[in-house]
Amino acid sequence: MQAFAYVPIMALRPILIHPDPRLKKRADPISEVTDALRTLADDMLETMYDAPGIGLAAPQIGVSKRIIVMDCVKEDDIPPRPMVLLNPEVVWTSEKNSTYEEGCLSIPEQFGDVIRPAEAEVTWMNLDGEQMSEKFDGLWATCVQHEIDHLDGKLFIDYLGPLKRQMITRKMQKLKREKARG
Ligand code: NI
Repeated sequence: MQAFAYVPIMALRPILIHPDPRLKKRADPISEVTDALRTLADDMLETMYDAPGIGLAAPQIGVSKRIIVMDCVKEDDIPPRPMVLLNPEVVWTSEKNSTYEEGCLSIPEQFGDVIRPAEAEVTWMNLDGEQMSEKFDGLWATCVQHEIDHLDGKLFIDYLGPLKRQMITRKMQKLKREKARG
């Protein structure tokens, strides 16, 4: 009798565009690693690389679960490092800050300077159910804090002044109207 191999069928998931109430919700913790969760992680990585982006959080594809994916390797001569973080938590940040011009796949083509701690230590569970911990710096630190914010319903524009935030939100509303018209 032939055994059936488990063949993951990866799929691109549509990314929600701000403003959307699903982007403002606090996401639920993950209690166990299931095949459905592994498929979700694969889909998120594929969707992120396809965009292209360096990070993606589940609420951005309408899934209210505490899972983020990221890969901040930019150099061509360094192999990619796809990371999947379940229930990620910032447990320490440096006093030293850094400013980075951030963007977001849910706020396409809009950018703004955001000040965040330059280093962040994060704990999470991996897809094998193991507890992990790592201290991130540089772009990785910015990215992991940006993605964890998504799990708490927070966007990078929430760090900007109200005028800039309103301007960007209006542009996104216009973009969504145009997309809806096709
Ligand atoms: Ni984002």
